[in-house]
Amino acid sequence: MSDPGSARRSPAFGDSGRPRPSIVKGEGAALWDETGRRYVDLGATHGVGNLGACPPEVVRAVQRQAEELLYLGTGYGVPVRRAFLDRLVGLLPPNLNRVFLSNSGTEAVEAAIKIARSATGRTRVVAAMRGFHGRTLGALSATWRKELREPFEPLVPGFVHVPFNDVDALTAAVDESTALLLLEPVQGEGGVHVADDGYLAAARARTSEVGALLGFDEVQTGIARTGRLFAFERWGVVPDLLTLAKSLAGGVPIGATVTTEAVEARFRGSHHSTFGGNPLACAAGDAALSAVVRDRLWERAERLGNYARERLSHLPPERVREVRGLGLLLGVELRERVAPLLERLEERGFLALPAGATVLRLLPPLVINENDLRAGLEAIEEEIGRG
Ligand SMILES: Cc1ncc(COP(=O)(O)O)c(C=O)c1O
Repeated sequence: MSDPGSARRSPAFGDSGRPRPSIVKGEGAALWDETGRRYVDLGATHGVGNLGACPPEVVRAVQRQAEELLYLGTGYGVPVRRAFLDRLVGLLPPNLNRVFLSNSGTEAVEAAIKIARSATGRTRVVAAMRGFHGRTLGALSATWRKELREPFEPLVPGFVHVPFNDVDALTAAVDESTALLLLEPVQGEGGVHVADDGYLAAARARTSEVGALLGFDEVQTGIARTGRLFAFERWGVVPDLLTLAKSLAGGVPIGATVTTEAVEARFRGSHHSTFGGNPLACAAGDAALSAVVRDRLWERAERLGNYARERLSHLPPERVREVRGLGLLLGVELRERVAPLLERLEERGFLALPAGATVLRLLPPLVINENDLRAGLEAIEEEIGRG
């Protein structure tokens, strides 16, 4: 059946009406529209598709689980949930072993904020300029971009923003009234900015000194994307709170807020989500994590990311200000708006993303085959070189 959205404006709230490919099928990094045209996905739905579209082991796990038990709340023992949680905490540093499950990145952040406020008895949250943490009111209060915040003000009080990678600003802002310092190890939506060496260690030291909690938002960087299973591993800095979502369940909606027993012991009040930890998402998550580990996908992300970065580093400096990123989370900052380039790439069959007005963001599925990645890079080189 054809998607009416491709012919006239769809009823989806917020739909801009700009005609976009109407996608009906996917495999790995390949997507097909309803006319049978093939596209290469260089955006993986903002990092959801680290395992690509329809990863076979996730599809099989979902099919099996759907036939056995589709839903059951967290009040019951559900073996598939236990298996998934055991697998997840088995991949994390030993003290990160308490997990709250939800359904999206913003919910994972929302839970982190509530846990930090409750466990510390403090209200202040420090986040970074250019940071993105989601769009529910708490997570939006931690998000930096003015256009996203302003229409919904007043937001939650107590949030302040400091320049990313500025240790002095962070040290000054985080004090004895701070509940949570929330950072992305690599800022994704904000333009692909990587934490400088020493920055996260300074964040750890300052939060420990003043009794604040350190939260890493790895909703976009998590699960092998940056060349490590979790980006924070690169710097050897362990947070008190870790938020995950996007690719965690291989394409099925999920959110996770991971913390320590020490933090859990200080948590007062309650937090809950009806669908959080549902058997379907847990089965998908267990299968997805098992596939990532089996295939050591972080190594592939590192190798393909280095290759892509090296190629992109030869783009003409009169059009490109900087190429940056880690693993297969790369940003190409142009000296002009990125929207026309994205449209030209789409016409050529390559679907990429912006990160702000001037940054081309590449975060393809980690399973992308080398020919598709090479073809995508060639298209970018040709379009940018064309002027
Ligand atoms: C770092 C980060 N945190 C939170 C979110 C919000 O996730 P979701 O869209 O699943 O609510 C995003 C989404 O892009 C993100 O990149």
